[in-house]
Amino acid sequence: QPHGDLAGLTVTVTTGGTREPIDPVRYLGNRSSGRQGAAVALAAADRGATVTLIAAHVDDGVLDAASRHTAITVHRVSSTAELKAATDAAAAASDVIVMVAAVADYRVAGVSDHKLRKEDGAPRLELVENPDILAGLVEARHAGQTVVGFAAETAADDGELLERGRAKRTRKGVDLLAVNRVGWEAGFESGTNRLVVLDTAGAVVADVDGSKREAAEALWDAALAVHAGRVG
Ligand code: C5P
Repeated sequence: QPHGDLAGLTVTVTTGGTREPIDPVRYLGNRSSGRQGAAVALAAADRGATVTLIAAHVDDGVLDAASRHTAITVHRVSSTAELKAATDAAAAASDVIVMVAAVADYRVAGVSDHKLRKEDGAPRLELVENPDILAGLVEARHAGQTVVGFAAETAADDGELLERGRAKRTRKGVDLLAVNRVGWEAGFESGTNRLVVLDTAGAVVADVDGSKREAAEALWDAALAVHAGRVG
């Protein structure tokens, strides 16, 4: 019987970066390592939750601990379409959903079924917008379900970071939005993270500068408070 303040909760966490195929050997991707999402899943499981971790592409070894945890089921996906299908399927039965995955906003129209050849000249990639998975989850949410989003933002300073975060929180309609500042150096492929968590009033309910695990713990403190309020 699991102990911990998340015991009895079923949660879904997404992590990693989606890849959009161009041809059988190439893709459009992003620099997400998947570490923050893995830490969010591990923290939840250690606090008693039953966790589904849906992982797009992650760095080597990032899923090792999660894969060994008996309370975590890991599903691997690649493209945004696959991530959406797996997430929508798991979300229905979830009390809390945390979308940490770095989702490609665009995919390639007309994916080539053969390797594009240099002799054919520089390809012109036509991009089409992907569905916003998070928006779909918010729309399909049932009473008592808590939805948390992440946003990696480049910003000149904290003021701009918070302004962008609050606008995105409102636009996405999530209960909590975790914002982290990224740049060429910061945020990616790193063990530490500064994470600012905003609630529906735009208030900062957590501000952690530490390991991704510490950020994950603070996020769950905030999510549990919101969830307890929602469930009553
Ligand atoms: O708008 P932006 O991509 O910054 O929003 C980030 C949040 O939205 C993350 O929680 C991410 O997982 C989610 N997202 C999504 N589907 C998309 C794009 C982003 O669920 N197509």
